[in-house]
Amino acid sequence: MNHPAMQGLTLNTPSHVKNAKLMAWVADMAALCKPDAIYWCDGSDAEYQRLCQQLVDVGTFKKLSPTKRPNSYLACSDPTDVARVEDRTYICSAKKEDAGPTNNWTDPVEMRATLQPLFDGCMQGRTMYVVPFSMGPLGSPIAHVGIELSDSPYVAVNMKIMTRMGKAVYDVLGVEGEFVPCVHTVGAPLAAGQQDVTWPCNKTKYIVHYPETREIWSYGSGYGGNALLGKKCFALRIASNMGRAASEGPSGNPGWLAEHMLILGVTTPQGKKYHVAAAFPSACGKTNFAMLIPPAGFDGWKVTTIGDDIAWIKPAADGKLYAINPEAGYFGVAPGTNTLTNPNCMASIERDTIFTNVALTDDGDVWWEGMGDAPAHAIDWQGKDWTPAIAKETGAKAAHPNARFTVAAINNPALDDAWDDPKGVAIDAFIFGGRRSTTVPLVTEARNWVEGVYMAATMGSETTAAATGQAGVVRRDPFAMLPFTGYNMSDYFQHWLDMGEKLAKTGATLPKIYTTNWFRKGDDGKFVWPGYGENMRVLKWMIDRIEGAGQGTDNVMGVTPGFKDLTWTGLPFTAQQFDTVTSIDKAAWTQELKLHTELFEQLAHHLPKALTDTKAAIEKRLAA
Ligand code: OXD
Ligand code: MN
Repeated sequence: MNHPAMQGLTLNTPSHVKNAKLMAWVADMAALCKPDAIYWCDGSDAEYQRLCQQLVDVGTFKKLSPTKRPNSYLACSDPTDVARVEDRTYICSAKKEDAGPTNNWTDPVEMRATLQPLFDGCMQGRTMYVVPFSMGPLGSPIAHVGIELSDSPYVAVNMKIMTRMGKAVYDVLGVEGEFVPCVHTVGAPLAAGQQDVTWPCNKTKYIVHYPETREIWSYGSGYGGNALLGKKCFALRIASNMGRAASEGPSGNPGWLAEHMLILGVTTPQGKKYHVAAAFPSACGKTNFAMLIPPAGFDGWKVTTIGDDIAWIKPAADGKLYAINPEAGYFGVAPGTNTLTNPNCMASIERDTIFTNVALTDDGDVWWEGMGDAPAHAIDWQGKDWTPAIAKETGAKAAHPNARFTVAAINNPALDDAWDDPKGVAIDAFIFGGRRSTTVPLVTEARNWVEGVYMAATMGSETTAAATGQAGVVRRDPFAMLPFTGYNMSDYFQHWLDMGEKLAKTGATLPKIYTTNWFRKGDDGKFVWPGYGENMRVLKWMIDRIEGAGQGTDNVMGVTPGFKDLTWTGLPFTAQQFDTVTSIDKAAWTQELKLHTELFEQLAHHLPKALTDTKAAIEKRLAA
């Protein structure tokens, strides 16, 4: 089938593609975007190698040394295209209040009128890649299919690593199956004979979601979550809408959750296995926590990774919440990653990795700040000479602070056996962790589901480099989902509360809810808690509590451990240091609650009463 407006361009639909809606949509998009050619990705290794070579040939990729970093590449982006663009990200629901006060909103009719001329001819001179992908194990009852149309081969090869991408998706899709249509363009059409640049993009950017029709339209950026549309756009913003919509109507279906959470397995020396899902804002060490290696003194404990960024969580017939990792790879922040902070990650990226915006060493390897000894010379992410002396003199960074690696989950030595299990894993605890240099203690257990939802809803975190903007400012980041909830935040809180209530009615034991803060600083401005593998000590306390053995004290908010309640074998950490990371300062908390009030004022539309009641109870305890 060809669209009348395709002017000689043939769709070339492979015979295994049978979905009529898909074929019609590809024809429509080709007619609009006017690519020179259409290429249907099959997801094979041969195709991956071919596209990578093509990217090398045009200068987007540099092949790294086959001995130092086998089967790996480096891409350096345009310096104006280095992170997600939250201020250019839109939730275009029919009604403004359904996007809520935390999302940019434009009327969908108006947005379509804005995008139409931008997309018209946007792929001229380029190939449109048709990228079929499954978020989650193929055919899993929790998984969903998406199709991304992109004019970026960099996107196609990253999607091969980050998702279950390829031909088999069409079997799941069949003739009538549903998919989320995702259109992506770098917004840089090429006139006949025009020389391309190595990182095409446009200074105008739009990352647009239409929640009612479940469409994603992305214009102008080739970077990360702006362009790999399975990740933040689909797996969080659109999927959060899907999960809530499933709970609407008279069926009593509790719906499901799409969360910004890693998923890990913890096995005790007794061989008991627990699963934890943990939400941390961007660039707060999710990948490190997901790949944690238990420290000295924890013989027999094992931590295994199911996912490092996103969890889709669905109640099953047994009343438990089952989670899958919708992704198949890691798009992690490179700077700060080293063999001490995350040995499993360093092992994962030894080969088969696409690096973006790190430095290239003279021996064809990569380097970034915090990786280890600096090379005497390197080419920085902007293609300039870099030496330690230049860095000292000018402050120039070898790698961009939001430089990334893309690597398949199967490269992770700590990968959990169940990571690809279509059924998912039963969650025993949720963790919400902000980055706070003051006020918030190391760990707190919510006394019940509602208090846990309150703690997650009011979470604050100091900003980092993952999104453009100023680093180091505290912003409220409810559930670490501020940039990712695809609908009104207060309705999202309500969805969590409703799910808890519906599941409790079935007699199910709900997962426990914790907040953590690894980032408290001492008077000298330095972190006090050693973090990384030592976070196992906190994880163990949680497991102790789940098993009914762990001790704790009731506090203004939740239950917190005393020094004696954590296991200290192998770590010289004093009771005084423990006090610095756990003390609850009443004055600071009075101030903190004022900020919760501000948040609740902002989120007043549909704010659940259960949350204002919880706040009142905390204030009462604080005043007592
Ligand atoms: C990410 C992010 O890339 O949260 O995972 O920004
Ligand atoms: Mn993330």
